[in-house]
Amino acid sequence: MSVPINLVVLGPPGAGKGTQAVVFAQQRGIPKISTGDILRDAVQSGTELGQRAKATMDAGGLVDDQLMIAIVRERLGRADVASGFVLDGFPRTVAQATALDEIMSGQGALAVVDIAVPDDALVARLALRRVCGQCGNTTTVAAGAEVPPCERCGGELVLRSDDTEEVVRERLRVYADATKPLVDYYSSRPTFRAVDGNQAPDAVGAALNGAVDDILRELAVSGAAAGGDR
Ligand code: AP5
Repeated sequence: MSVPINLVVLGPPGAGKGTQAVVFAQQRGIPKISTGDILRDAVQSGTELGQRAKATMDAGGLVDDQLMIAIVRERLGRADVASGFVLDGFPRTVAQATALDEIMSGQGALAVVDIAVPDDALVARLALRRVCGQCGNTTTVAAGAEVPPCERCGGELVLRSDDTEEVVRERLRVYADATKPLVDYYSSRPTFRAVDGNQAPDAVGAALNGAVDDILRELAVSGAAAGGDR
């Protein structure tokens, strides 16, 4: 029986969590669950969740813990996570992390990988990130050059509403205050690894895969995977 890969990808805004999570999930045949994407879809569709979350997201703040925990609890209750999942953007606070431990109790071990990137590189990256308004594809544009159409569908590439420099600085401040403490929360666990995110995307992907495989080997040796505790 194969061991489920229950992966949490940690990292600051712009670290490459989404970029890596989508590739990893495809490679391993498991769903990617991005709380940022769930919220942006809700904003786009004008649902009650989207209406509640929009102003907070546009200001670079964090959406209410209880709301986010309820969303993730429901999502992790679906059948498609039986072989594992990649969580991108959750947990983001210690309250969310303790709730995730409770949700996962008896459901298999959590692997946690932190993608570390210095602040200056993050600000530069997010200034050049554009998202297709039509298909949602994320891409990096050349500095100072005219923004081309989306290479996937030809749609218009736009700046994400929370990628202005002022909001990016606030997101980094909120990250340092509320989310970075999660590195301490998880770092003493044998299922935690940090990888260098300040290298080419393929190299980050190789490091992420290596870290997860290392964690899975560790779990197999300790026999902890099936038991489900952390
Ligand atoms: P969310 O969408 O999760 O935003 P984030 O954590 O700030 O992360 P980003 O999506 O900005 O960056 P990323 O790390 O995914 O980087 P990416 O791969 O795109 O959340 C948005 C908002 O929703 C939050 O601010 C909050 O309000 C709310 N929210 C979400 N979850 C919540 C929760 N759990 N609790 C409360 N509120 C919540 O890459 C960035 C750019 O860099 C791209 O252009 C990419 O092409 C490029 N790039 C990627 N990798 C590399 C590389 N190795 N080298 C160079 N460029 C790279």
